[in-house]
Amino acid sequence: MTRHLLSAADLDAAGAYEILNSAEQMDAIQHRQVKKLPALRGRTVVNLFFEDSTRTRSSFEIAGKWLSADVVNVSAKGSSVSKGESLRDTALTVAALGVDALVIRHPSSGAAHRVTEWVDCPVINAGDGTHEHPTQALLDAFTLRRRLGELAGRHIVIVGDLTHSRVARSNVLLLGLLGAQVTLVAPPTLMPAGVHTWNCSTSWDLDATLAGKVAGDVDAVMMLRVQRERMGTGSSGGGRAAVGYFPTEREYAIGYGLSPARLDLLPEHAPVLHPGPMNRGLEISSIAADSPRSLVLDQVRAGVAVRMAVLYHLMAGADEGSGRTGTTGEPHPAAVHA
Ligand code: NCD
Repeated sequence: MTRHLLSAADLDAAGAYEILNSAEQMDAIQHRQVKKLPALRGRTVVNLFFEDSTRTRSSFEIAGKWLSADVVNVSAKGSSVSKGESLRDTALTVAALGVDALVIRHPSSGAAHRVTEWVDCPVINAGDGTHEHPTQALLDAFTLRRRLGELAGRHIVIVGDLTHSRVARSNVLLLGLLGAQVTLVAPPTLMPAGVHTWNCSTSWDLDATLAGKVAGDVDAVMMLRVQRERMGTGSSGGGRAAVGYFPTEREYAIGYGLSPARLDLLPEHAPVLHPGPMNRGLEISSIAADSPRSLVLDQVRAGVAVRMAVLYHLMAGADEGSGRTGTTGEPHPAAVHA
């Protein structure tokens, strides 16, 4: 196992399967009345969030608590960050409190990586700017695998604001590692620079792609949020036009939204995913979001099990201060206390 989880590229296929398989066992805890495993008792996890979050922050918190760690949430709003403290000073301050793992979300790409230079504990990237969000890719793979079986040879289509999507970057890396084929679909203005070097095919034509006419039959479609807050509108909502990226929201929805008609283009077995938060009526219609094919809430639920597995693999068995991390051949905590 790697010491930190900053990118999906930190994992090899064996490491990714190890986390996904552990997450299957961790997920069983959801069915128990007492949702507690002792694996991380006496350890402290700090969630350091410089950006808004509902799912990621709360699922890391629940994951840590279900593994018996003490979990502390620090968010930029309400901390000394709002008084101008630098990322380095904030990270050093949190580290000085004696943390055993740091989960960080930050608007700058590369922030989690920088933090590893300043602190001694495992660092988990919970989203850095437009760069990566590896635990989201792991929970997406977990959710897809549950629905489709092994992902090797499966064709996953990812649609939307790819330029600003750390979810897309991590998913292309991880799905490729697991042997899946990925097609990215977006208007040219939202296709990332350098995408031709990525391990995927691309298209501007959503209808043809969903109908299997571009890169073959589709096994799942993942819709991504239009990230207005990264488009220089200065607004994270309110329906303002995303300046320069597409003419109007209505036109975006017509060209790239998952409408009921587009849902019907998909083969029957193909589910719909979205990492959330969803802009209903923009990238996804309510009919698609709430349809029986939607795995949106399965993804949220998977987030807890996958993050438990990630925390466990990075923290349990780590020799304090030695930098050695990962499992040490000891029985899996979920198995021991089943
Ligand atoms: C994603 C994120 O924050 O990168 N959401 C999430 O983690 N559930 C995607 C997004 O914000 O659109």
